[in-house]
Amino acid sequence: MKPRTLVTRLLPPPVMDRLRRETELALEPEDRVFAPAEIIAAAAACDALLPTVTETIDAAVIAAAPRLRVIANFGVGFNHIDVAAATARRIAVTNTPGVLTEATADIAFGLLIAAARRLGEGERLVRSRAWTGWGPLQLLGHDVAGATLGLVGFGRIAQAMARRAHGFGMRVLYWSRARRSAADEEKLGVAYRDRDALLAESDFVSLHVAYTPDTHHWIDAAALARMKPTAVLINTSRGPVVDERALVEALRRGAIAAAGLDVFEREPRLEPGLHDLPNCVLLPHLGSATAGTRTRMGMIAADNLLAACRGERPPNCVNPAVLD
Ligand code: DGY
Repeated sequence: MKPRTLVTRLLPPPVMDRLRRETELALEPEDRVFAPAEIIAAAAACDALLPTVTETIDAAVIAAAPRLRVIANFGVGFNHIDVAAATARRIAVTNTPGVLTEATADIAFGLLIAAARRLGEGERLVRSRAWTGWGPLQLLGHDVAGATLGLVGFGRIAQAMARRAHGFGMRVLYWSRARRSAADEEKLGVAYRDRDALLAESDFVSLHVAYTPDTHHWIDAAALARMKPTAVLINTSRGPVVDERALVEALRRGAIAAAGLDVFEREPRLEPGLHDLPNCVLLPHLGSATAGTRTRMGMIAADNLLAACRGERPPNCVNPAVLD
């Protein structure tokens, strides 16, 4: 029997074709976010959920779905899913690591260059038709080549960022809960720093940690105060890793030079003031947004979902205790 499945958003066509073929869809997904009550109602008779970052799969959703066997997230970050509630019911939670590493690192490095070299401001100036021509003092930014990049977290995406930074002649520092061996650090061309030293030494700080209670507001007013006044902050991880109100304040006062953000504390809402700051490049959570990457993410989510429903080990289970 095909697993009855709630797919919460319209996914790339090859993924939808496969899900229509291999599962029984509880609802025809639309290009909008379903309300929590719609999700609860649709989940009731489902064997499987395939949510994205825009839906909260909390204990109430899980309790409303007595047949549920798997929550196959479309994405690598799964802080919108109550994994403890799923684990208590022996429901597998899976994600899609690996396939979005390069696309997300491209967006992070793109933000780094855009924020350093003031690409957003330049683009807006030309579009406004107010540009009067080249000027020796016009929109002067910060050098990327030769600068120091500090990576917060050192998983796949941070390592892909380090590879890009080396191509630009940057020095790369990292902080992570688990320090690498000296041999690994040498091979990867990175040096470890504790949190405060990394913030103080880096010209660019790029965030690559999962969002957990430990990383909530990892960048707060005190952290921003440790950064150089010429430093640039990049966030492609999760919005609440940064205290957005403190960031607006720091950018306003020039406590740091600029920021490049792909994620926000309360998406799609932004902290008041953020829209108006010229020294902040803003993107609408585009990290994994290429057609190829989103298709691969969907195929992996489908692999995980179908394996779990067949009683097999899903390839990317984040709560493997439920499989024992
Ligand atoms: C991810 O994979 O975590 C992206 O942010 C989309 O959810």
